[in-house]
Amino acid sequence: MFVLYVLIICVYSFTVQPEEHTVAAGNCQFLGKHFKTDFKVEGEPVVLKCPQVQYWLWESVSPHVNVTWHKNDSARTIPGEEETRMWVQDGALWILPALQEDSGTYLCTVRNTSYCDEMSTELRVFEKTEASLPFISYPQILTLSTSGSLVCPELSEFIRNKMDMKIQWYKDSVLLDQDNEKFLSVRGTSRLLIHNVSVEDAGYYSCAMTFAHEGMQYNVTRNIELRVNKKEEETIPVIISPHQTILASLGSRLTIPCKVFLGAGTHSTTMLWWMANTTSIESAYQGGRVTEGQRQEYSENNENYIEVPLIFDPVIREDLNTDFKCVVRNTLSTQMLRTTVKEAATFSWGIALAPLSLVFLVLVGIWMHRRYKHRTGKTYGLTTLKTGPDFQSRE
Ligand SMILES: *[C@@H]1O[C@H](CO)[C@@H](O)[C@H](O)[C@H]1NC(C)=O
Ligand SMILES: *[C@@H]1O[C@H](CO)[C@@H](O)[C@H](O)[C@H]1NC(C)=O
Ligand SMILES: *[C@@H]1O[C@H](CO)[C@@H](O)[C@H](O)[C@H]1NC(C)=O
Ligand SMILES: *[C@@H]1O[C@H](CO)[C@@H](O)[C@H](O)[C@H]1NC(C)=O
Ligand SMILES: *[C@@H]1O[C@H](CO)[C@@H](O)[C@H](O)[C@H]1NC(C)=O
Ligand SMILES: *[C@@H]1O[C@H](CO)[C@@H](O)[C@H](O)[C@H]1NC(C)=O
Repeated sequence: MFVLYVLIICVYSFTVQPEEHTVAAGNCQFLGKHFKTDFKVEGEPVVLKCPQVQYWLWESVSPHVNVTWHKNDSARTIPGEEETRMWVQDGALWILPALQEDSGTYLCTVRNTSYCDEMSTELRVFEKTEASLPFISYPQILTLSTSGSLVCPELSEFIRNKMDMKIQWYKDSVLLDQDNEKFLSVRGTSRLLIHNVSVEDAGYYSCAMTFAHEGMQYNVTRNIELRVNKKEEETIPVIISPHQTILASLGSRLTIPCKVFLGAGTHSTTMLWWMANTTSIESAYQGGRVTEGQRQEYSENNENYIEVPLIFDPVIREDLNTDFKCVVRNTLSTQMLRTTVKEAATFSWGIALAPLSLVFLVLVGIWMHRRYKHRTGKTYGLTTLKTGPDFQSRE
C-alpha cells in the first residue's frame, strides 16, 4: 500500500495531462473483499471505513481523490437524494442510527482523474439482545491473578476530546462501580483496569459512551468477551532419560531420546537441546549424520513432558569418544545430562565367547552356592536400587 501511495504521489507530480477526465465507470479495478466484517448494534452510529484507503495519509490524499460508496445490491450511490441517515465524511461512510436492514456488502470506490479501484466490506447490524453477544463481542484475554486492562475498541471517530471522554463499563449488563479495589476506569483512555483477575471475572462486558449529533444523543456500545487464562507456571525440569551409557553397534542407526519431566510446569518456556562435546549438534555434524529429531510435548496424568531425540545415522567409531549432553533450560534452572555411546558386543569374540563364559559362570555359581550356603541373600540390595529415580518422577 505504501508503494501504491508513493506511486500516486510520483505519477501525480509528473503527469503531463491534468485535464484528463474521470475514468469510465466500467474501468474500475476490483481489489476484493475486506477480511473484516463489522458487527454492530441497531440504533447506534456506525462508521464504515474504506478498506483500501490509508486514513493516516488522508490529509495529503484527499484533495486528489473522490471516494464513493455503494451498497452491493443497488447501483445507486449512497447517500441517496433523500437520505438523512447516511453521509460520507472524510472518505468514511457514516450511518446514524444503523438499522438491521443496513446489513450487507458495501463497495467503496476510490477514483482520481486517471485511476479507479474498489473494495467491498461487510456490515452486519444486530438487534440488541443477549443472543447476539457472541457475534458482536471482541475477544480479549487476561491472565489469572495478575492485573490487566480491557480496552473499549473502535471509538476513535466518536471521541472529540479525550479528557472529556466518559465510558461506562458493564459486566453482564450490570453497571460496574468503576473506581474501587477491583475495577478502575482510567481517565482519558478507553481502558478498564482489573486488579487480580479471577476466574469469575471472565464473561461478557460492555462499554458505552454517548455521542451527540445534531442535538440527538446516541449510545455507542462495544461488547467484549473476557477470557481468563491460567498463568503459565514454571518448575525445575528434571531429565529422566537417557542413561549414562548407551550401547550401540557401529554402522547401525541409533536414536537416544532425552526425556524431561516438568510436572505442572509449562512447555512453552522450556528449551531442550543436545550438544556434542561443547558444540551444538547442527554445527558439529554439518553433514547431517547426527541430528536432533522433532521436539515432542505431551502430558501424562496431568504432568508435562518434553522429548527431543538425538539420531545417529549411522553410529561411527568417532561417536564412542564424543561426550553427548542433553541440556534443558527455563528461567528457573539449567540441567544437563551426559551420555556416551559404547560399542555393543557385536559379531566378534564377545559373541563367540558368550556361551562359554555363561557355562563358566554357572559352574562358578554352583560352586559358590555350595561353599557359602549359609551366607545367601546378602548381596542383592545394591543393583535393584539404581533404577529408583525413573519411577519416582513419574508418580
Ligand atoms: C491516481 O491514482 C493512481 C493510483 O493510486 C496513481 O498512480 C495516479 O498517479 C493518480 N493520478 C492522479 C492524477 O492523481
Ligand atoms: C470529484 O467529484 C467531483 C464531483 O463529482 C468533481 O467535481 C471533482 O473534480 C472530482 N475530483 C477528482 C479528484 O476526481
Ligand atoms: C455483489 O452482489 C452480487 C449479486 O448481487 C454478487 O454476485 C457479488 O459477488 C457481490 N459482490 C461482493 C463483493 O460481495
Ligand atoms: C487475588 O485474589 C485471590 C482470590 O481470588 C486471593 O486469594 C489473593 O490473595 C489475591 N491477591 C492479591 C495480591 O490481592
Ligand atoms: C443509552 O443507554 C442508556 C443506558 O443504558 C439508556 O438509558 C438510554 O436509553 C440509551 N439511549 C439510547 C438513545 O438508546
Ligand atoms: C569430541 O572430543 C573427542 C576428544 O576430544 C574427539 O575425539 C571427538 O572427535 C569430538 N567429537 C566431535 C563431534 O567433535
